[in-house]
Amino acid sequence: MKAIILSIAATLVGAVPTQSHTPSPYFNQVDNQTWVIGNELWNLTQGLKYGVQLFYKDHDCVGDAVGHYVSYNGAASDLSWNSASIAKRGSYRGSDYIDVAFTADEGEMHWVIFSGLPGAYQYFVNHALPVLGEFRTLWRLDNTTFPRGKTNLRDEELPPLSDYIAANKVQDETWLRPDGKGYITKYDLTDWIRTQTYYGVYGDSFGSWYINPGKDYYNGNHLKQELMVHRESATGDAVQLNMIHGTHFMASSSDAFPDGKDVGAVAVLVLSDGRPAANAAVFLGDNNPNKTALDMGTDYYYTSYADAQGRFKFADVRAARYGLQAWSNGSKIADVTTSFLQNNITVTKSRNTNLGTLKWNVSKKTKIFQVGDFDRTSYGFQYGGAPNQHALVASCPGNLVYRVGKSKTSDWCFGQTYQGNWTISFDLPNTPKHNRAGNATLIVSLAGYSSGASSIILANGQQIGNLTSEAPGLLNDPSLYRSMTTAGEWRYFEFEFDSGSVLKKGDNEVTFQMTRNTTWHGFMWDSVVLEW
Ligand SMILES: *[C@@H]1O[C@H](CO)[C@@H](O)[C@H](O)[C@H]1NC(C)=O
Ligand SMILES: *[C@@H]1O[C@H](CO)[C@@H](O)[C@H](O)[C@H]1NC(C)=O
Ligand SMILES: *[C@@H]1O[C@H](CO)[C@@H](O)[C@H](O)[C@H]1NC(C)=O
Ligand SMILES: *[C@@H]1O[C@H](CO)[C@@H](O)[C@H](O)[C@H]1NC(C)=O
Ligand SMILES: *[C@@H]1O[C@H](CO)[C@@H](O)[C@H](O)[C@H]1NC(C)=O
Ligand SMILES: *[C@@H]1O[C@H](CO)[C@@H](O)[C@H](O)[C@H]1NC(C)=O
Ligand SMILES: *[C@@H]1O[C@H](CO)[C@@H](O)[C@H](O)[C@H]1NC(C)=O
Ligand SMILES: *[C@@H]1O[C@H](CO)[C@@H](O)[C@H](O)[C@H]1NC(C)=O
Ligand SMILES: *[C@@H]1O[C@H](CO)[C@@H](O)[C@H](O)[C@H]1NC(C)=O
Ligand SMILES: *[C@@H]1O[C@H](CO)[C@@H](O)[C@H](O)[C@H]1NC(C)=O
Ligand SMILES: *[C@@H]1O[C@H](CO)[C@@H](O)[C@H](O)[C@H]1NC(C)=O
Repeated sequence: MKAIILSIAATLVGAVPTQSHTPSPYFNQVDNQTWVIGNELWNLTQGLKYGVQLFYKDHDCVGDAVGHYVSYNGAASDLSWNSASIAKRGSYRGSDYIDVAFTADEGEMHWVIFSGLPGAYQYFVNHALPVLGEFRTLWRLDNTTFPRGKTNLRDEELPPLSDYIAANKVQDETWLRPDGKGYITKYDLTDWIRTQTYYGVYGDSFGSWYINPGKDYYNGNHLKQELMVHRESATGDAVQLNMIHGTHFMASSSDAFPDGKDVGAVAVLVLSDGRPAANAAVFLGDNNPNKTALDMGTDYYYTSYADAQGRFKFADVRAARYGLQAWSNGSKIADVTTSFLQNNITVTKSRNTNLGTLKWNVSKKTKIFQVGDFDRTSYGFQYGGAPNQHALVASCPGNLVYRVGKSKTSDWCFGQTYQGNWTISFDLPNTPKHNRAGNATLIVSLAGYSSGASSIILANGQQIGNLTSEAPGLLNDPSLYRSMTTAGEWRYFEFEFDSGSVLKKGDNEVTFQMTRNTTWHGFMWDSVVLEW
């Protein structure tokens, strides 16, 4: 059935389930724009768009905040419910449940409510969402009940609204702190969606959490990051976001959803040089893809890692045809610059797919130098992978020299944002002609790029390439100026040049000369490789 897309997220309010023997999930229609859903522990009043008065233990957890809603493309379109009804009722492991469907023009929002559970399961069935970037459900809750936010990476008090001083706004949802020391921005509370375990907002007496039983309806790959909790800067609400299809740190993400959207796959990946593809990132995504793995979001996506022998498996995969991708996640194969793609992987219902041994071609050229691990992230460089922090790139230098064989990886900084020259100097023991090398290839792998920054690339003073918004046409991703320190949208470039006329025996250099800069924008590095 290619009917259902999107979320199964459980929202739990409160910590300790009170045991009750009254089987009581219920749904009441008050008028044609008001419904009450709940059980013996909690209830919610759903209006035309917003779910308010979330009562639990006689406490209204929404209060003056906006409440629960479903929306796409930012706040531009909050779904309006035309009708609501019980779509299904039943019993599972001794607990009665009802599945309540709220129907909008775009699709159905379901709440599955069990007796005795201080929360509900939610899912959304698409019927007519437009081609879009952002689709989400969210809670905007009472900020005195829920003063703190928690993700896998952070657990802290949300900054008070009084610290958001209009005159201090420096960019998109980012303010200088009143004391001038650092910034307040919602982007700091971003986390990796594929590895998040649970997240939410809480206080001394109540907590509200999202727990995802599965993640295949999320867009993107291992490196997909999303905003999870924050303080709403216009109203002060405590916000808990369920970014089913999010775009906060991507260059381009615009997907069409099928109307209405089991098993597994195993394989061994070996490199063409005979090594196992140790710890490679593996991804089951669009067949014959025309988008990057991060940008995919129409169907269902599965992420995993190979083990030290290159073996991997995906469990609980929906029957469909997929494109299987793999790339280095660093460690033992951090030198591998190529990516693996095999299309037409067919996963059939009730049958395990064994793909056997798959061969991943690696470059046959000779490597002259490599700066940084190939892993689509900035790990290893100075500040690479630091806790999310706005404007950290401003701490990287304007000019930098990296000496191959002498410098450490951490001597290269994770991002370049100032006009200046970042130079890699290296030694060639023989003349290129002697090596009959022909062309040399400079491989540039960026973990991210925020536009408004242009560089020319020089080898021994001769221009061998450009990295600009115009040529080769780099799209903006907001990672660098939205607090990200590890990755945004990955980009891969090869610049070929004639080695005989450009390189020489002895000292050589490759320079990234930034000629145009914009505050906090620029290049986030993954790796630079020269080979011939
Ligand atoms: C809702 O009910 C009101 C009267 O109570 C009526 O005027 C309105 O047309 C109804 N709306 C819908 C969508 O049925
Ligand atoms: C919702 O819960 C509150 C407090 O727990 C209770 O007073 C109220 O009657 C409930 N509302 C409905 C419609 O069940
Ligand atoms: C909570 O929200 C109110 C507005 O409803 C706002 O005045 C108040 O400052 C917020 N509290 C915090 C701690 O931000
Ligand atoms: C992938 O890389 C990240 C960052 O270095 C690391 O934390 C993680 O353990 C790696 N995963 C595997 C399976 O090697
Ligand atoms: C990309 O592929 C999808 C099917 O996988 C197709 O529907 C779409 O038209 C393609 N887009 C382009 C620009 O080729
Ligand atoms: C993909 O597989 C299907 C069925 O197994 C086959 O008909 C089709 O030709 C294959 N396409 C490619 C490009 O191999
Ligand atoms: C891998 O390399 C072999 C030998 O050079 C070639 O025949 C094959 O087409 C390559 N495979 C891919 C997927 O590029
Ligand atoms: C651009 O870089 C120069 C130094 O290289 C620096 O002085 C200037 O402040 C930077 N401009 C912006 C907008 O960051
Ligand atoms: C970068 O190097 C070039 C060539 O040596 C030089 O002309 C330019 O001034 C340098 N840029 C900066 C900002 O130092
Ligand atoms: C750099 O870009 C300019 C114009 O954008 C182009 O004319 C030039 O050929 C490019 N140089 C290289 C080496 O790609
Ligand atoms: C060498 O690189 C140049 C670009 O600098 C390219 O035009 C040419 O086709 C390449 N030659 C080979 C044999 O790859």
